[in-house]
Amino acid sequence: MKIINVVGARPNFMKIAPIQRVMDATEGIEPFLVHTGQHYDERMSKFFFDDLQLPQPDVYLNIGSASHAVQTAKIMIEFEQVLLKEKPDAVLVVGDVNSTAACSIVASKMGIKIIHVEAGLRSNDRRMPEEINRILTDSISDLLFITEQSGLDNLKREGIPDEKVHLVGNVMIDSLIFFKEKAAQSTMLDDLGLEKQSYALITLHRPSNVDDPDVFRRLISTFQKIEKELKLIFPIHPRSRKRISEFGLDEMIASMPNLKLLDPLGYLDFMNLMHNARVLLTDSGGIQEETTYLGIPCITMRENTERPVTMEVGTNVLVGSDTDMIYEEFKKVINGRAKKGSIPPMWDGHAAERIVDIIKKELM
Ligand code: UD1
Repeated sequence: MKIINVVGARPNFMKIAPIQRVMDATEGIEPFLVHTGQHYDERMSKFFFDDLQLPQPDVYLNIGSASHAVQTAKIMIEFEQVLLKEKPDAVLVVGDVNSTAACSIVASKMGIKIIHVEAGLRSNDRRMPEEINRILTDSISDLLFITEQSGLDNLKREGIPDEKVHLVGNVMIDSLIFFKEKAAQSTMLDDLGLEKQSYALITLHRPSNVDDPDVFRRLISTFQKIEKELKLIFPIHPRSRKRISEFGLDEMIASMPNLKLLDPLGYLDFMNLMHNARVLLTDSGGIQEETTYLGIPCITMRENTERPVTMEVGTNVLVGSDTDMIYEEFKKVINGRAKKGSIPPMWDGHAAERIVDIIKKELM
């Protein structure tokens, strides 16, 4: 059975790696890796292939950045050619990026089975491009693999038949566990002259936070307040870096001696910094889950989350972009009153094995 595994953007690579590894070791399944090239900078792509020991993609589509419509359309045009040539039995997509939705739509029109890993998540905020990608992909998928109970509830509400849906755990946590020891060997702390637990780690790239100059300025002024009490390490997404210049925020950044901006990091270096951080300040989806698994406080600068289990049982708190709320949660952490959490069911390092077992049963 030939299965095309699709990756496009940074958060896809750590999700595909364990699936690709298990498929490689499974008799009767022939995985074929397609990279759309939605992310193409070395630091957003190649570093991850190296760190995660992913094989070179069988096909690279070289799509690059563009508006949503142009990017999605270009992926569809190129991916159709791949499907015509390779004639796979199924296409497996992960997450919620434009590549996920684009490739699913093409496969569905060609009558090829679609497997969606990390299905069912909903922020219920349709202003997020990812929410549209999630709804579209789930509605046309044949097998839907779920990370947390809310995914089952959401898909039931949307009328997706139960027999297509399987709660299997979290493939991103598979990667985190698999690479934990290697990440511990990264020299990031020494390189940056940091002690364990002596800094907060920041990531910020959502359009809602960085594309609006007022919001982005407010968040940076919040960091100005926080950096007086704790070092801030900020590996910055290319989109956010561009906005800092566009919005004339460089001087604010330069005025903070305790804030260190870094280029985007590879998987192992970032994991190392996360494992040793006092707290994460982020708007990422995946980091909410990784910190929940690791039991590290996570202050999420968003109004909503598609991953409610990270708030219900994990260490995650939502604070939006409100300076007072962010600072208040930060003080709780500093004063030893950070939220304690536990690990959601089946986040145990074996999600990819469950997925491949079910694919064998259902599709072979
Ligand atoms: C995409 C995903 C988002 C995910 C994020 C992780 C969608 C709709 N969004 O957002 O869910 O959380 O990836 O990073 O798919 N750029 C570069 N080099 C690159 C890639 C991007 O410079 O290798 C810059 C370009 O200016 C580009 C911008 O970043 O226009 C945005 O890239 P894009 O892929 O459109 O979306 P992300 O914001 O990265």
